Amino acid sequence: MYLKGLSPEITAEQRETEVNILHISDLHFGTRHWEGNDETLLKKLNSYSPDLVVNTGDNTSDSLESEYKDAAQFLNGIDCEQVISIAGNHDKRNMHSHEYFKKYISHSERILPLNPERTDKKYLYLQRDITRLDDHFTDLNYIELINIGSTTVLIICLDSTVLYEDEGYVEKEILKSFSQKIKQLKYDKSLLLIHHSILTMDKEPLRSSFYVTDFVRKHQVKDVFCGHTHRLDLQKSSDLYLKNSFTQYMVGTLSSSNRMGNDNQFLYLENWGTAEMQIHVIKIFLNDGVMTFTEELI
Ligand SMILES: [Fe+2]
Repeated sequence: MYLKGLSPEITAEQRETEVNILHISDLHFGTRHWEGNDETLLKKLNSYSPDLVVNTGDNTSDSLESEYKDAAQFLNGIDCEQVISIAGNHDKRNMHSHEYFKKYISHSERILPLNPERTDKKYLYLQRDITRLDDHFTDLNYIELINIGSTTVLIICLDSTVLYEDEGYVEKEILKSFSQKIKQLKYDKSLLLIHHSILTMDKEPLRSSFYVTDFVRKHQVKDVFCGHTHRLDLQKSSDLYLKNSFTQYMVGTLSSSNRMGNDNQFLYLENWGTAEMQIHVIKIFLNDGVMTFTEELI
């Protein structure tokens, strides 16, 4: 029994681990990369000491190997053990794109479709008889299971991109494979990374968003992170019938805009997934080569 006014002692195991996330997107190394100073940007990112960094695609401008190398060098400069990146439409522009992504950005084992013969995503497989590639499967889907303190976080990395195209499409057979794997895993919290928005329509939308929202609800994923539009858009979606809800964090580009007054940005989620969560929007302005940062708390 505890005396009135005194709380029971909470052990380290019982105490919820504080998880702080940086969300970055659309780095666009190559032709579309900004003229800002990447070292100054890295210093700013590292000043937050995040537990997890999620990077939601468009690492490159044209999927060139040199651009992938530059993106990897930048990402390696982030002072965090867990930097998880996915591909965007600009990262899938040629027949080597998926190979470069695997070589420079993520070496994790990919999720393959359970029934390849039932897939209908365009260019999901390249023609073996006319290319000299080792790997003819172009999708870049994978799962990361990471521990932050006593919290195990499941990160679903879903490839919404279609080779050569800007619009998105998620293969249903891949979602089935994800579901099968997720059922076997134990975790405390989950989040989904996808380049295209699953809630809002832009001029290059995700055509199969219905399947993805269904998947998110089925697995009780509470947080979805995306990029693509280069705009900030934070939305909560509630299903009145199924009685569940999730939040989608869409962040603008980190480092591609050089226009006066047009901001680059990133998000910092302090105490992610708790009642105490605070969302910081950090904007980066570049005027005549001088970088300045502003921070809003929402
Ligand atoms: Fe982009």
